[in-house]
Amino acid sequence: MSKNTLEVAIVTGAGVGIGLAIAHELAKSGVKVVLNDLAPTLTAEAVSKINSAFPQSCIGLAGDASDPEFIQRMVDTAVEHFGALTIAIPNAGITIYGEFLSFSPDDFKKVTQLNLGGSFFLAQAASKQMIRQGTGGAILFMSSVTGHQAHKNLAAYGMTKAGLELLAKTLVVELSQYGITVNAVAPGATVTERTSMQEDFVGIWSNITPLGKPAYPEDIAHAVAFLVSANARHITGQSLVIDGGWTSTSPSPYS
Ligand SMILES: NC(=O)c1ccc[n+]([C@@H]2O[C@H](COP(=O)([O-])OP(=O)(O)OC[C@H]3O[C@@H](n4cnc5c(N)ncnc54)[C@H](O)[C@@H]3O)[C@@H](O)[C@H]2O)c1
Repeated sequence: MSKNTLEVAIVTGAGVGIGLAIAHELAKSGVKVVLNDLAPTLTAEAVSKINSAFPQSCIGLAGDASDPEFIQRMVDTAVEHFGALTIAIPNAGITIYGEFLSFSPDDFKKVTQLNLGGSFFLAQAASKQMIRQGTGGAILFMSSVTGHQAHKNLAAYGMTKAGLELLAKTLVVELSQYGITVNAVAPGATVTERTSMQEDFVGIWSNITPLGKPAYPEDIAHAVAFLVSANARHITGQSLVIDGGWTSTSPSPYS
């Protein structure tokens, strides 16, 4: 994309947390956003927050970001409402903790269907649209430090995040010819509505993170906004770890 192209993004799982911060940061930089969450109320509240700061920058579409038919609807909505789609951020992901030996097929299906399937099929539908437009574009996968290193009770989740990192590299081979970049970010412990419910999350991660605190959603959103921007057009196939230095030593607070 050139600096003159209207940028239009889809961000999934963006009712709260990291996704909401990404949608907010993109809207702040002039990008139009289709904001998705599974929960209709969260979707509507998030859209209203963003539009009150940046009028008419965002529309909401509640639904299941792992469903290929719904994914196509998000792409069509971006095009119908804003005229194009240039950025796809399959941020929605679920974490299900459990020991490997007793992890159930049902939980495995839930984690892989959203984390891998939702990302794969949004990347696919978005790429087809970007190719039709001839504009190029940017795809950004939401990985995790658990996709880089082993974590107890996160075998299935970590596997999906590692899978996204390889998907980013693989898509470089298929999508670079169309001017589409594909990158990932790998956050460490990040303070969101969900993680804040864990006892002393900030205290525990502050103690073992070299920079002295966990990440906040804005830390992730700033990096994402750069990686999908016109300033990052020669960066592709990369994964950026955003963890305050934690993976330099990786002490676990839980074992
Ligand atoms: N929070 C962290 O510490 C952390 C660290 C590394 C990576 N991540 C990744 O970042 C992403 C966002 O994490 P978060 O903690 O901000 O998210 P979260 O768990 O707070 O969920 C954000 C939103 O996703 C929505 N959602 C759940 N299933 C959905 C579906 N099928 N379709 C659409 N929306 C759905 C939820 O309703 C929720 O509002 C995830 O992919 C997660 O794996 C988070």
